Amino acid sequence: MSEAPHGAPIKTPGQLIAAVIAGFAVPIVIIILLAYYVDNTTRTGAGTDELSVQQVTSRIAPIAQVSVRDANAPRVYKTGEQVYQAVCSACHASGAAGAPKFGNSGDWAPRIAQGYDTLWHTALAGKGAMPARGGTNPDDYSDYEIGLAVAYMANHGGANFQDPPKPAPGAANAASGAAAAAPASGVMDANAAQASAAAAAIAAIPQTGSAPAGGATQSADASQAGKALYTQVCQACHAAGVLGAPKFGNKADWAPRLKDPIDTVYNYALHGKGQMPPKGGSNASDADVKAAVDYMVSAAK
Ligand code: HEC
Ligand code: HEC
Repeated sequence: MSEAPHGAPIKTPGQLIAAVIAGFAVPIVIIILLAYYVDNTTRTGAGTDELSVQQVTSRIAPIAQVSVRDANAPRVYKTGEQVYQAVCSACHASGAAGAPKFGNSGDWAPRIAQGYDTLWHTALAGKGAMPARGGTNPDDYSDYEIGLAVAYMANHGGANFQDPPKPAPGAANAASGAAAAAPASGVMDANAAQASAAAAAIAAIPQTGSAPAGGATQSADASQAGKALYTQVCQACHAAGVLGAPKFGNKADWAPRLKDPIDTVYNYALHGKGQMPPKGGSNASDADVKAAVDYMVSAAK
């Protein structure tokens, strides 16, 4: 008859070992669970997050935004430096793709030698890997602003060009050819006076196409229209040979050009070539420009 005391829960060595292990393990598990519980109360389920002000604004922001530009508001032009930083520096800062590097007079000297007007024209029209207007849209950067950037870059490459003349308000769409022919006082050569006279003459060209001769040119025979357009527009440069234009009636000037097929010659007149602005800076019809070419060509034969 065993005299073991009643109610003692531990009766074998195995139970003792289990009790000792449990004595350590249970509090540890409880502590771990408590710690997890405390930490977990600071977490909340998805969707109930308290959003920061920033998150809220970004979530409720409209998907598309329209910025309205008042077409009649006086235009605020960017400076050459701003245009350079925003657009041109992409290539010109590092000299990417063979671009003349900003501030490198070795790169710029041969280009500056071409004169400001040519550089401006090249920047507008593009050349090789240089995209027209640096790849921008005329609505974003006017001819004038591109011209400022050209002067800014060239002057940091050793030139001493002056900024192009600021366009008159309302003349925002003046033909780029007219602008490109404007005199740059940085490159004062013998032609400068002639060139500025030509620029003035071009500026006076009616841009509306409703010139006195305009009505007649519609129907009248082509040679009349050609002569009228020549007198109005082309002679500003071609009469005296301004900017290296082939002189009216001068066979020697014209002969090498007339070796090209006449369509090529028309094309130059329509789309420009070097200092020759597209359509001479006018907005005459293609037919009238061709007629003016015919008129000039026949005078040089
Ligand atoms: C995508 C690259 C790129 C961008 C952007 C760019 N250029 Fe250029 N640019 C070139 C390269 C390449 C040349 C060299 C072209 C050559 O000589 O064939 C060049 C040459 C020029 C020249 C010298 C032209 C000549 O006749 O030698 C001028 C001036 C110029 N860039 C102006 C600008 C202006 C102004 C802007 C900004 C509005 C601009 N570029 C943006 C790549 C670029
Ligand atoms: C701002 C001055 C200027 C005006 C205005 C002008 N030209 Fe020219 N034109 C030039 C210059 C400069 C050249 C030579 C371009 C070159 O060879 O690089 C030229 C060349 C030409 C050529 C020869 C192209 C060739 O090499 O085959 C024709 C044709 C021509 N112009 C037609 C016209 C006509 C037509 C008008 C009027 C609608 C006109 N031009 C107005 C400056 C001008």
